[in-house]
Amino acid sequence: MRLLTGHARLAGVLGWPVSHSRSPRLHGYWLEALGIDGAYLPLPVHPEHFAAAVRTLADLGFRGANVTIPHKLSAFEVCDSVDATARRAGAVNTLVFRDGRIEGSNTDGYGFLESVRDQAPGWAASDGPAVLLGAGGAARAIAAALLDAGCPRVTLVNRTAARAEALARDLGGAIEVATEPPLAATALLVNTTSLGMQGHAPLDVDLAPLPASAVVADIVYVPLETPLLAAARARGLRAVDGLGMLLHQARPGFEAWFGAAPRVDAALRAIVAADI
Ligand code: ATR
Repeated sequence: MRLLTGHARLAGVLGWPVSHSRSPRLHGYWLEALGIDGAYLPLPVHPEHFAAAVRTLADLGFRGANVTIPHKLSAFEVCDSVDATARRAGAVNTLVFRDGRIEGSNTDGYGFLESVRDQAPGWAASDGPAVLLGAGGAARAIAAALLDAGCPRVTLVNRTAARAEALARDLGGAIEVATEPPLAATALLVNTTSLGMQGHAPLDVDLAPLPASAVVADIVYVPLETPLLAAARARGLRAVDGLGMLLHQARPGFEAWFGAAPRVDAALRAIVAADI
């Protein structure tokens, strides 16, 4: 067991509730693996107390925090500055307390791209058009990251078309809305809805029109192997699970707070997956 000293660096995750969060386990794994004098705590904070809690953490000398449901929008308000990724994503998931200031960023889109690069080696956003199923917060972060990384076109397909249209207008650039996914011309298909999650209906998409070189990604990670990913693998397509995004989105925060670059490896995946 690692024993903390008086110099220990502190960070944590703010959520309500927060008991379901995998972040303490994954940051704890990295702290242990890298031998860092630091701790990462679950911080259950009611929405009413969110802003005060963030300022108190900064006053207590915390290095920063992750922000999860339902605080990602409020986190925007409490920051002294937010970076371009947070502004594009419309939400903050990572806070860094630096020089008396609260800095916000959003690492979800970065985590998604890194996860695809990791699980589908050789893939690049510029390979070809992407289709995103869904138009919520996750779709927003992923679409922005894909466009910024050079994806030639992003097509949004959502149950509520008006929501997809609003998102496309907001992000601008090579983004469009469709009722049917244009799969024959798709290099990357991503499910950002909750369909396929344990206890939810499966996603009903026929993958047959996808090119053999396509990558299929899911952001759902309970279960790890969703029906969508199983269908993709059965067709010989490359499949990217949602656990990778969860692990990779955590890396920039860890590095900012604890001063070391963590790695996503098989041991970490196994430890977090064992909890699922
Ligand atoms: P997140 O922040 O994780 O993206 P969200 O903002 O609630 O969560 O978005 C959930 C997405 O899943 C939305 O695109 C939602 O579609 P609507 O915009 O039409 O609500 C989609 N979704 C959820 N349940 C669905 C279902 N049963 N069928 C189709 N789409 C669904």
